[in-house]
Amino acid sequence: MATSEPSLPKTIKAIQWITAGKPFEVLSLNESAPLPAVTGANILVKVHASALNPVDWKLMRGGIPHLLMPRVKIPCLDISGTVVAIGPKAGKKVQIGDEVMAMLKFNQSGGLTEYTVVEEALVTKKPQRWSFEQAAAWPLVATTVWEALVGKGGIKQGHKVLVIGASGGTGTVGVQLAKALGAYVVGVCSTANVQLVKDIGADEVVDYKTTDVTEKYTNQDFDIVFDTVGSPEIWTKRSTILKRSGNLVRIAADVNAMDTPLHLIYTGAGIASHKLISLLQWGPGYHLFNVFPDGNVLAKVVKVLDEDANVDPIIDSVYKFTLPSVLAAFEKSQSRRARGKIVVKIA
Ligand SMILES: NC(=O)c1ccc[n+]([C@@H]2O[C@H](COP(=O)([O-])OP(=O)(O)OC[C@H]3O[C@@H](n4cnc5c(N)ncnc54)[C@H](OP(=O)(O)O)[C@@H]3O)[C@@H](O)[C@H]2O)c1
Repeated sequence: MATSEPSLPKTIKAIQWITAGKPFEVLSLNESAPLPAVTGANILVKVHASALNPVDWKLMRGGIPHLLMPRVKIPCLDISGTVVAIGPKAGKKVQIGDEVMAMLKFNQSGGLTEYTVVEEALVTKKPQRWSFEQAAAWPLVATTVWEALVGKGGIKQGHKVLVIGASGGTGTVGVQLAKALGAYVVGVCSTANVQLVKDIGADEVVDYKTTDVTEKYTNQDFDIVFDTVGSPEIWTKRSTILKRSGNLVRIAADVNAMDTPLHLIYTGAGIASHKLISLLQWGPGYHLFNVFPDGNVLAKVVKVLDEDANVDPIIDSVYKFTLPSVLAAFEKSQSRRARGKIVVKIA
């Protein structure tokens, strides 16, 4: 039997969508959604904050992932909150009252709700020093960046790392984690964000409005290029900016493909051809991957960033948990101009 706090509500507020479309067309506020049941190895978390990622509005466009999602979908994959109930097979990692953070699975309940159910294995304890807003900002991006730099990039102390899109949600963590792991970091961003990227620790910053990074570095300078934007030039010039032993790690498909109706086909063909070409050539490795939630990875990266490096999440803005405010948060994310993370404060 699940154990829980004695006074849980029967119904809760949640922001949800059913059919695909643009956020302002499909999102609605349900003031009396049922409190989710806690079963098996799951826990129930009272959500204090959630954060947006581009995947949240990309999923709303529809397509194949829909087939794997519940009929009523609650967006946003990042949460921080307090454990209020523990399923019969949970209770190994957390207790009622613990403050936790997690990346949720895209085909389960999301974070824009007062209470959400999550597998206990996916959560990690929230560092005391971070607010709930800060803790909600990082699970998805920190898990992604760990996989990019450590898993695919094989980062080592002294490596030279180029971060493209250094001022965004993933880019800021990319700079901070690479520095925490002892790398020399060059960040690429627009003029308005140069100071921010310097402030979070980049050793050099390239303003892409005035300088083409592929023309500035032509001597196989980098061990890792972490491309969060999907720049076609980075792929074309990979052999001149990266060492032969280096790795081009991308988390976004070609930026030009994103808004075409055939983007899935275009993207799939691009990924396959890039991978094949890099395998056939003796040169830098090529990686493009999709992140999945992993509580162990999250715990590791949080330890490095919080305890070892003493750095904090960079937050662009915090929005209220009302429909108009959440729609404004989605608009900001879709503008692709966020500086760090967009957070929604729930309670
Ligand atoms: N594969 C995965 O598992 C995975 C995981 C996480 C994210 N992603 C994807 O990775 C991408 C980045 O995610 P994110 O959370 O970092 O997004 P984000 O926070 O929305 O990124 C915003 C940043 O992108 C920069 N930017 C926009 N256009 C640019 C351009 N043409 N050149 C250079 N920088 C540009 C902006 O900087 P300026 O204003 O300075 O240009 C802004 O700071 C998204 O497509 C997301 O879906 C994939």
